[in-house]
Amino acid sequence: MSIGEYPATRMRRLRRQPWSRALVAETQLTPADLIWPIFVRDGTDIAEPIATMPGVFRHSVDRLPALMREAEALGIPAIALFPYTQPERRSDDGAEALNPDNLVCRALRAMRDTGANVGLLTDVALDPYTSHGHDGLVDDSGYVLNDVTVDMLVGQALNQARAGADIVAPSDMMDGRVGAIRAALEADSLHDVQIMAYSAKYASGFYGPFRDAVGAGGYLKGDKKGYQMDSANAREALREVALDIAEGADSVMVKPGLPYLDIVARVAERFDVPVFAYCVSGEYAMVEAAVAAGMLDKDRVVLELLTAFRRAGASGVLTYHAPHAARLLNG
Ligand code: PBG
Repeated sequence: MSIGEYPATRMRRLRRQPWSRALVAETQLTPADLIWPIFVRDGTDIAEPIATMPGVFRHSVDRLPALMREAEALGIPAIALFPYTQPERRSDDGAEALNPDNLVCRALRAMRDTGANVGLLTDVALDPYTSHGHDGLVDDSGYVLNDVTVDMLVGQALNQARAGADIVAPSDMMDGRVGAIRAALEADSLHDVQIMAYSAKYASGFYGPFRDAVGAGGYLKGDKKGYQMDSANAREALREVALDIAEGADSVMVKPGLPYLDIVARVAERFDVPVFAYCVSGEYAMVEAAVAAGMLDKDRVVLELLTAFRRAGASGVLTYHAPHAARLLNG
């Protein structure tokens, strides 16, 4: 038997049996890696379907405690809340963001009251509340003003934290907002409220279904390219992450997910904070549309896709498939 008659290294040996594949798996996906985004609306006993996100609903506040317990039972550690704001509560300055009785605050209180061991994450940005659909305050020319927006975001984050948010997640991409929010939380003795910074948030076409879900689609004037990142850039994402960590972020996020897996990997390699990826509405919609058309096997692709984020170095993934994936993983 000489070398050349057979392969010196047989890579398939480790793959042959299920027990061996389990033994040598380099990454694990568990329900503890998932954050479940949930849309909230007013009313009672309503689960309203979202046309562009089949299987996802806008839930009235009274339904949220049950979803919180469902997350706990499935082993999903955190829920992210997004409000669908009625048109009459939208204004140029997004003042509803500061209302201690707004939809998100009521949702937080109702969910907190369950006592479930599930973290609650809230989005800090003005777009659910502005009549122009931007994440900040705009001047007459349509320019999104940075520093006055940061003042509003600080108020919004405090409002959420006082109502029970465990993690505030600024998704607005204004400069300096993480530091300002951190200082305000400290000054208000909210030392243990985490900041998960949407550090590398790209101006993306994949947010389309989300904007339908929160009712912002029809409002948005122009686009968000003046503050969200350009998909052509990667090194810029590393600068954004470094700044947010220096300003006091506890964890950072890359968003969208799949088209930016290279960014997830680079951030995870370079920095020692937990990195999350947001597999956004458009990514969810792509999978669901292909599954509905009979083109893909949902269970297989959902787990494969979420495992990819873990392989790239993410601590966890925000995904609308969270409950489905958790059920699969729990067997
Ligand atoms: C709001 C916000 C957006 C998303 C999360 N927070 C939309 C946007 O920036 O326009 C998108 C999430 C998704 O598409 O699933 N600032």
